[in-house]
Amino acid sequence: MLSRLHSSLPKSIFKTALPKPTIATHISRQFTNMSATNQLYGSGSARPNDQQPARKILADFRSDTVTTPSRAMREAMLTAEVGDDVFGEDPTINELQRKVAEMTGHEDALFLPTATMSNQIAVRTHLTCPPYSVICDHRAHVFNYEAGGISYLTGAQLVPVTPLPDHPHLTAAAITPHLVLDDDVHHTPTRLICMENTLNGEVVPIENIREVTALARGKGVRTHLDGARLWHASVKTGIELREYCGHFDSVTLCFSKALGAPVGSTLVGSKAFIKKARHFRKMFGGGMRQAGLLASACLHALSHTLPTLHQTHAIATSLATRITSLGLPLTKSPDTNMVWFESPVSADELKVLLEAEGVRIFGGVGREVRLVVHWQVGEEGVEAVVRVLEGLVKREGTK
Ligand SMILES: Cc1ncc(COP(=O)(O)O)c(C=O)c1O
Repeated sequence: MLSRLHSSLPKSIFKTALPKPTIATHISRQFTNMSATNQLYGSGSARPNDQQPARKILADFRSDTVTTPSRAMREAMLTAEVGDDVFGEDPTINELQRKVAEMTGHEDALFLPTATMSNQIAVRTHLTCPPYSVICDHRAHVFNYEAGGISYLTGAQLVPVTPLPDHPHLTAAAITPHLVLDDDVHHTPTRLICMENTLNGEVVPIENIREVTALARGKGVRTHLDGARLWHASVKTGIELREYCGHFDSVTLCFSKALGAPVGSTLVGSKAFIKKARHFRKMFGGGMRQAGLLASACLHALSHTLPTLHQTHAIATSLATRITSLGLPLTKSPDTNMVWFESPVSADELKVLLEAEGVRIFGGVGREVRLVVHWQVGEEGVEAVVRVLEGLVKREGTK
């Protein structure tokens, strides 16, 4: 059905605003000698099921967690110096922790397998004597996607707050009515405010961060930032990580999303905070041994993928521009690597149509669709999305 629609359209209309040299440079730097299948399943690795030939995947827009390590990253892992990190003897992990502490301006850092574990350990470490509550944005990862961990692992009540009308992100005015600062025995005192940046791919303005963290400090409330994708905010705005991170008592940073490492996050904070967090890491089963292999991938990501993030943003911006030029509205600001838009058909239907073209997205019953751009998304994938949407707009019109 769709291929019929495509064949009725002149080829030239698919080739519009994409900044080709940028994409070409971006891809060629990362993918020398890698086929599209290898991009997805990794060079030299077995496919998930060797009995069935893998379909050619042009691009996977489901998330930036789907990237596979480049050959150079794998080579860095092969030569990493390692030791027992539970004893603090892994030189590569120690180097990564030193480097991230330095980059963020915090006293110390702790290497962890995932950003979820980092957030959960941060909250657990901040909160010691219940009852207590944690304020966060109602869209936050810690509220929606960490399996209720804060209630279970820390026993804290989460208070999800919706930003005020005409304010896309949390402000002091939005949070103030939810602060519990009295000692009435019926109440649950606010002990921590968690922010997230980027949030759904949008940059939370530094002004919001300044005013929310100043409010918290003034009231004796601690602050944590889920900065799993803070790299994106910093690259986009030019504001240094140190500036963002300096406002918070603790910050999670992740290497397995924007930066393309297979595993790895770091939690940063004061020396005393990280010492306590290290204790919880052991308790939660996150004390790893010769994990310098993984930390070396994170170091490689810092030196090789981080400097290319602006190219990822350029691809996302171009994709967003082309989608809007088809008359399809964006539903969130495409500040960094995520493009959210209203599709002419349900996400489920679009998913099936794109799958036939070798492009992966998440489905859903609604028409809001999220496309996540990362370093393994190239021109072919972008063109396929635009081609399919163009066909759909012709068929359905914009609603
Ligand atoms: C903002 C944010 N924080 C935390 C996480 C959790 O990361 P992980 O999958 O490493 O646990 C994610 C995952 O996508 C995320 O998007």
